Amino acid sequence: MEQQEPRAKVLVVDDNEQNRALAQATLEDEGYEVVLAATGEEGIRQFERHAPACVLLDVRMPGMDGFAVCARIRGLPGGEAAPILFLTALRDVDTFDGALRAGGDDFLTKPVRPAELLARVQTALRLRRLGAELREHVEVVRQQRDALMRLQLQKEQLTAFVVHDLKNPVSSMDLHAQFLLRDRALSEPARDSARHIREQARSLLRLIYNLLDISKSEEGRLAPERARVDLRALVLEVLAALEIGASAEGLALKEAVEAPAVLADPDLLRRAIENLVENAIHHAPAGTAVTVSAARAGAAVEIRVADAGPGVPAEMRARIFERFVQLGGGEQAAHRAGRGLGLTFCKMAVEAHGGRIWVEDNAPGAVFCMRFPDDT
Ligand SMILES: Nc1ncnc2c1ncn2[C@@H]1O[C@H](COP(=O)(O)OP(=O)(O)OP(=O)(O)O)[C@@H](O)[C@H]1O
Ligand SMILES: [Mg+2]
Repeated sequence: MEQQEPRAKVLVVDDNEQNRALAQATLEDEGYEVVLAATGEEGIRQFERHAPACVLLDVRMPGMDGFAVCARIRGLPGGEAAPILFLTALRDVDTFDGALRAGGDDFLTKPVRPAELLARVQTALRLRRLGAELREHVEVVRQQRDALMRLQLQKEQLTAFVVHDLKNPVSSMDLHAQFLLRDRALSEPARDSARHIREQARSLLRLIYNLLDISKSEEGRLAPERARVDLRALVLEVLAALEIGASAEGLALKEAVEAPAVLADPDLLRRAIENLVENAIHHAPAGTAVTVSAARAGAAVEIRVADAGPGVPAEMRARIFERFVQLGGGEQAAHRAGRGLGLTFCKMAVEAHGGRIWVEDNAPGAVFCMRFPDDT
């Protein structure tokens, strides 16, 4: 192991007790001495009393916020030299800019992993020790890092806005297409167009929701709201919605649900099954069937979606759940609206329930299996 700071003192300022305890445990395990403060005002007093080598500072606190505390510390004796690391749950550009303006050295977003917290504290302390010349180089690299971070945050925010703002107009397109279809006087070609609009709108909505949930999951915010879900009813509902697309491809959709119910988030579960069935429809050859089955397996419920398509080669079975991964490429990908996010969403949704997803060989074809723990 690398040489430690000799009992370097770290001041942790956070109004949340759990956050303080976590930071304290992480840092003390590595031999740091930790001083705690629950408010900004207390943080300043502790800084004056202990002259810590490094400060971890929560941004949002009642009373004096992290930015104000940072500015004050910078004016205290020894306050210019101590690295200050901001902790924030707000992953946005304004907060990031505010942190830099206030004179922060680094910016961590919550939830912070202990290993990351430690690495950032160690780096901050090491940087402060470097000589002046080196520090200049470091400064350049830091500016580049900050610019990159800023860009990344801007991109995340833009994606979130776009995805969010697309939801309503696309839902409304779907709704209007449904109105059209209710008009019995509509000519068959017009009905066909309306069906087409519905199908495309639905596929776009699926993409939008997948993207939203993937980013939620990355921020640790994908929390399933569990309820008893009537599995057969849910599967039949999904199959009914996809029936038109399936029969256009000459496919039969079959249901073989044996488990009566599962404890899961109804919306996440429905969309996971939807993604798997849509994939199966895309890959199964005409004249075959796509089957959704569900059965108890010990203290879990397994849902399987089977098709008779080309299947997934063994060496791709683990990678296929990563985002943007698509097989076949070229020809096939060009014709498809897909972006390789469906399975990523499914994996995140299942794992948010403490479950697992994998793909098996159906010889021929693929079977995607989702296992939801359920010991009721
Ligand atoms: N049932 C299946 N049979 C064979 N290959 C499949 C099957 N399901 C998925 N795949 C392969 O896995 C890739 C990733 O699937 P995923 O659902 O993540 O993305 P997509 O369907 O291409 O796009 P999206 O779901 O984002 O619209 C697909 O592009 C396809 O190559
Ligand atoms: Mg898909």
